[in-house]
Amino acid sequence: MTDLPSGVERRPFDGRERLSTHGETVYGEPRDEDGWRAWDAGRSKLGAMFEYGMDTGLVGDETVLYLGAASGTTVSHVADFAGPTYAVEFAARPVRDLLGVAEARDNLFPLLKDARKPETYAHIVEADLDCIVQDVATRGQATVANRNRQFLRDDGRLLAVIKARSEDVTADPDDVFEDVLTELREAYEILETTRLDRFHDDHLGVVARPK
Ligand SMILES: C[S@@+](CC[C@H](N)C(=O)[O-])C[C@H]1O[C@@H](n2cnc3c(N)ncnc32)[C@H](O)[C@@H]1O
Repeated sequence: MTDLPSGVERRPFDGRERLSTHGETVYGEPRDEDGWRAWDAGRSKLGAMFEYGMDTGLVGDETVLYLGAASGTTVSHVADFAGPTYAVEFAARPVRDLLGVAEARDNLFPLLKDARKPETYAHIVEADLDCIVQDVATRGQATVANRNRQFLRDDGRLLAVIKARSEDVTADPDDVFEDVLTELREAYEILETTRLDRFHDDHLGVVARPK
């Protein structure tokens, strides 16, 4: 099992060891008396990547661009262990909740932006980031990752989750994943892939680094 980043720990909640980060609660998850809150891998694909033992390359304190932040379930955990965390989401409704999540985290910066148009936030997001986390669940997931590659430092990491049904509801997920990986290889070297089915049906976790 790969090491967890500093700031992510397995701790007991109701007699069961669970992933956790240290911070304010966001989605009704249990929090222990020391301020550690359980990270529900069933509600978080990045959490599932950790549960599967994927080598994310994260050690803690990274600069992060998070694409597809929604109302902040996963990005709140990321901001608990990372450094400056830019959270892009294009739907206004969840961003309202995300703003509330950011109030308790001074390193979390919500951006109401379209991840397909990185030029609209390139003046805000710092260059040479350590990591992009992507969970956009939309058609064209590889295109989104490739367009945002410009923000990553040369040995940075892309941690992407590919949802097969967002690309094609009828196709065999393995065929969809192969097509997405082929497009991703235009900008990235793929280091590891794992299906996350124990927590998320027909989702592929991908760890990659810029070419
Ligand atoms: C599966 S949800 C993300 C859940 C979230 N990552 C979490 O674990 O807490 C996918 C999100 O991506 C957003 N999204 C889809 N396409 C996008 C785009 N082009 N730009 C920004 N956000 C996008 C959707 O609005 C939705 O909120």
